[in-house]
Amino acid sequence: MLSLAAFLVLSAAWGVASAVDKSNFVSTNGTGFSVNGSEFRFIGTNVYWLQALDNDEASHTKDHELRLSKAQDIDNVLGNISLANITVVRTWAFNDVPQVPENGTWFQVLNNNGTATLNMNETTGLPKLDRIFDMAAKHNITILPVLTNNYNPIAGDNLTDPDVLGLGRRDVLTGNALPRNYLVRCFLTPMISLSPSRRATISVEWQDADAYVRAFNGTSHDEFYTNPDIIAAFENYTVTLVKRYVNRTNLLAWELANDPRCNSSIAASPSCNTTIITLWHSRIATLINETDPNHLVSAGTAGFFCADCPKSFPPHTVPPPQTSPTPDQRRNAKTMPKPLTNKRILAERKESRKKNRALKMKKSPPAEGVRVRGRWIATPTRRQEEDQGVGSAFDGSTGVDSEDILSIPQIGFSSFQLFPDQNQYAPNDPSLSAFNNTLEAGLNWIIAHGESATMFGKPIVLSGFGLVTQNAAPFFVPFNTTIAPFANSQVGNISLDPGVLPFGVTDAQQDDAYSQWLQQGILSGLAGIIQYQWGQGNLTAGPANASIIAPSISENGVVSSNGVTTQPNSTGISPQDGYSFAGQGESTVQGTLSGAANQFVPDS
Ligand SMILES: *[C@@H]1O[C@H](CO)[C@@H](O)[C@H](O)[C@H]1NC(C)=O
Ligand SMILES: *[C@@H]1O[C@H](CO)[C@@H](O)[C@H](O)[C@H]1NC(C)=O
Ligand SMILES: *[C@@H]1O[C@H](CO)[C@@H](O)[C@H](O)[C@H]1NC(C)=O
Ligand SMILES: *[C@@H]1O[C@H](CO)[C@@H](O)[C@H](O)[C@H]1NC(C)=O
Ligand SMILES: *[C@@H]1O[C@H](CO)[C@@H](O)[C@H](O)[C@H]1NC(C)=O
Ligand SMILES: *[C@@H]1O[C@H](CO)[C@@H](O)[C@H](O)[C@H]1NC(C)=O
Ligand SMILES: *[C@@H]1O[C@H](CO)[C@@H](O)[C@H](O)[C@H]1NC(C)=O
Ligand SMILES: *[C@@H]1O[C@H](CO)[C@@H](O)[C@H](O)[C@H]1NC(C)=O
Ligand SMILES: *[C@@H]1O[C@H](CO)[C@@H](O)[C@H](O)[C@H]1NC(C)=O
Ligand SMILES: *[C@@H]1O[C@H](CO)[C@@H](O)[C@H](O)[C@H]1NC(C)=O
Ligand SMILES: *[C@@H]1O[C@H](CO)[C@@H](O)[C@H](O)[C@H]1NC(C)=O
Ligand SMILES: *[C@@H]1O[C@H](CO)[C@@H](O)[C@H](O)[C@H]1NC(C)=O
Repeated sequence: MLSLAAFLVLSAAWGVASAVDKSNFVSTNGTGFSVNGSEFRFIGTNVYWLQALDNDEASHTKDHELRLSKAQDIDNVLGNISLANITVVRTWAFNDVPQVPENGTWFQVLNNNGTATLNMNETTGLPKLDRIFDMAAKHNITILPVLTNNYNPIAGDNLTDPDVLGLGRRDVLTGNALPRNYLVRCFLTPMISLSPSRRATISVEWQDADAYVRAFNGTSHDEFYTNPDIIAAFENYTVTLVKRYVNRTNLLAWELANDPRCNSSIAASPSCNTTIITLWHSRIATLINETDPNHLVSAGTAGFFCADCPKSFPPHTVPPPQTSPTPDQRRNAKTMPKPLTNKRILAERKESRKKNRALKMKKSPPAEGVRVRGRWIATPTRRQEEDQGVGSAFDGSTGVDSEDILSIPQIGFSSFQLFPDQNQYAPNDPSLSAFNNTLEAGLNWIIAHGESATMFGKPIVLSGFGLVTQNAAPFFVPFNTTIAPFANSQVGNISLDPGVLPFGVTDAQQDDAYSQWLQQGILSGLAGIIQYQWGQGNLTAGPANASIIAPSISENGVVSSNGVTTQPNSTGISPQDGYSFAGQGESTVQGTLSGAANQFVPDS
């Protein structure tokens, strides 16, 4: 345990620039990053729940053992990540609540009268982020903080009560029409644990993080992007945060929002389109750029394209980088890709189908993988008139035109995500198995974004990717819901309801896909690749963080009641929403990530 004094010295050495030396901060260099005069490429992981862990020397318990273990949680998690040679952690830097919760972490209360109150308490409030930056610096980890999140399905209903089950499902999947004045997804993914009767219970944490739209009595999700009062409140929070961490050198960039779209837990208004979302990015990016001269601003969209949409920012494409005399296999050989158009997308798909058909004629059909059953589309999309059948990832119906956003001068780089269980990236090719369709759609999605980076001369980061396995399927909670659709039908590989197909890929297929996607990301010159999400056991469960820590499903018979453990000093695991590898092929996934990360270790 570090003494406070030693700790402050370390913070100064590792985390905060003593004088303004621009090279201490991450900057862009063409399609890559550099820091301290060297190239910086990375493999990262998502740990959105970091702020809910304890890391307080002044923890409010008198129990010495417990205090020590509490003090180590953030430290331990980041230490383990660092051991895997992962150098970037993407995490939530917001936690909005409609009223002060009894326990747990919260950063800001959004009152119904349109005012906001920050929580500056050292052990429960925004200053917890200081500890995250400090501990990350200690482990040589760079933090990618995210300022808000698109989703906020209603939580708080008693989902074990059959009478209110319907209430808990106020989401787009079930078409429940109850009012949903929620905008920002609860910052914690609801967790499930299996009761002895194998009925899933979903633990939902304290208060919802809704906040903005509800606090301002909004009626559509896109008011978050257009309502001047909501924008002012969000800007106010943003400026507070940005000023606080302006000198942190281990802050990669300010990511504006996770997966922003027109639709969310509340529906979009009919007028929401890509222009609205692009202009919001421009406005917030400009504000941050004016407030913080040190850090890049990043867009955190899912990366949807709208090839033929009218643009708000004329694209400034750049000439391809010069091929170096000593060819570097990873970065060179970039010829300028052709601009994305609907015509080109459709022609390339046709060509690829033809090839796959021909291949299939030659070979015996591939062994059929387990079908990815259906898809949990996070939000419905509106068809645009110009949709020529390229699909929702390319037609602007989500409200996202990632290339227009990338053209904003104050946006340093953009990101994209890869969640084939939730988004459809391309139509299925009948010549391919279900798994190969998933694999190939992912590879093509990565290639498309790598080309986009080359064309626009800015870095692109894959900020989240994951594939749900059959073993993790019972825990799978799609982004915009609080329900685990497969919890009741399946435990592990056992399908409990006869006739119900298991969901998800095998562990081996997940490993195959992760390896190939990572490799393609490196080949395509992505500046960074961030897996979703880290899994961690041996965490302290207790009142302060009970909301996210629950006993592992594998801990026989230990079942939490709505996620609140009764044993304050028991151990728990991090949230499992279907993507955590805790107890789910952990060493394999970690090994795959480390293997990719080790390719970035500078040659000596
Ligand atoms: C900038 O990028 C160029 C081309 O990729 C590379 O050769 C150079 O080392 C990079 N410089 C830094 C400081 O990252
Ligand atoms: C991390 O990198 C170090 C130094 O390159 C290497 O010795 C170690 O084996 C790597 N760890 C993993 C888990 O790959
Ligand atoms: C708004 O509501 C909060 C919480 O109820 C209260 O503390 C504050 O005084 C109110 N402000 C105004 C301007 O009404
Ligand atoms: C929202 O509506 C409530 C009830 O009508 C009202 O008291 C409150 O002031 C409104 N809040 C805002 C920000 O308009
Ligand atoms: C803006 O933030 C400050 C704290 O940084 C707070 O005092 C003030 O009430 C906030 N204003 C609004 C309109 O939320
Ligand atoms: C901070 O919150 C903790 C836990 O709720 C509480 O015990 C403590 O008194 C608070 N500190 C201050 C300075 O209000
Ligand atoms: C920290 O990480 C950077 C980037 O991966 C690396 O260049 C540097 O050597 C590391 N420093 C330490 C002290 O491990
Ligand atoms: C939830 O509902 C079930 C069934 O009605 C009941 O047994 C349980 O006590 C309720 N839990 C809470 C926290 O209200
Ligand atoms: C950041 O550094 C600048 C220049 O050294 C200084 O003026 C400012 O107060 C620092 N801000 C914070 C929050 O540390
Ligand atoms: C979005 O809607 C606005 C207002 O109707 C319109 O001016 C704009 O051109 C539209 N943007 C796109 C990309 O269609
Ligand atoms: C701020 O925006 C300008 C473009 O307007 C850009 O050149 C500059 O690099 C940005 N600053 C940072 C820290 O990214
Ligand atoms: C808050 O924590 C206390 C113990 O410190 C516990 O008794 C209480 O049930 C918790 N409240 C909630 C809503 O979880």
